[in-house]
Amino acid sequence: MMHIETPRLLLRWFRPADVADMLEYRTDPEVLRYQTLDPSSREHAEEFIAEQSQNNIDKVGAWMQVAIERREDGKVVGDLAICFREEEPRIVEMGFNINRSLQGKGYATEAATAIAAFLFRQRNVHKISCLVDVRNPASFRVLEKIGFRREAQLRKSYFDTIDGDWFDEYIYGLLAEEFEG
Ligand SMILES: CC(C)(COP(=O)(O)OP(=O)(O)OC[C@H]1O[C@@H](n2cnc3c(N)ncnc32)[C@H](O)[C@@H]1OP(=O)(O)O)[C@@H](O)C(=O)NCCC(=O)NCCS
Repeated sequence: MMHIETPRLLLRWFRPADVADMLEYRTDPEVLRYQTLDPSSREHAEEFIAEQSQNNIDKVGAWMQVAIERREDGKVVGDLAICFREEEPRIVEMGFNINRSLQGKGYATEAATAIAAFLFRQRNVHKISCLVDVRNPASFRVLEKIGFRREAQLRKSYFDTIDGDWFDEYIYGLLAEEFEG
């Protein structure tokens, strides 16, 4: 069971009824622009949600999708993805998506801050790490607002099939002690 409330949001596992909300942003080329995610068909989204609704926070080495629900009306405005590293589960990889029409309202920052607090305080996580395309300032701005530090730049480490070329990525990291400080 996953249930994390913030002033505006509820973070929880996906449910079958979320498929339309998920398709709104997972078929949007702008949202998928700097990611390796493929646009979802309805069928794929249904299967994906069926899998993801069975999630268990104790799972290691697999990406788990957390729905970001707006409490006011129950709409799923986006998702957060987390993965406890196989070889070191005290380190968690993270990513996020927000519906384009609902970006710029602080939802990603509010959701990622809440999941960070949960991971550090309740799951004994030591570090959260994110890999972001250097051309995607909105994503690293969210991370910097939460206190993540840019730790490295990986040169030409990501092949962008849209541009047909290699691009750099940043690794961002946040330590438990920095978050609490
Ligand atoms: C990254 C993303 C999740 C942010 O969601 P969001 O809910 O709009 O984020 P927030 O509103 O919490 O914060 C966005 C911040 O980025 C800033 N920002 C947005 N676009 C920007 C740009 N082009 N250049 C610089 N800063 C930008 C905003 O001004 C805001 O910062 P501020 O509060 O200092 O003004 C959203 O843009 C998205 O879904 N992008 C596509 C998916 C993606 O690339 N995900 C990242 C993979 S890890």
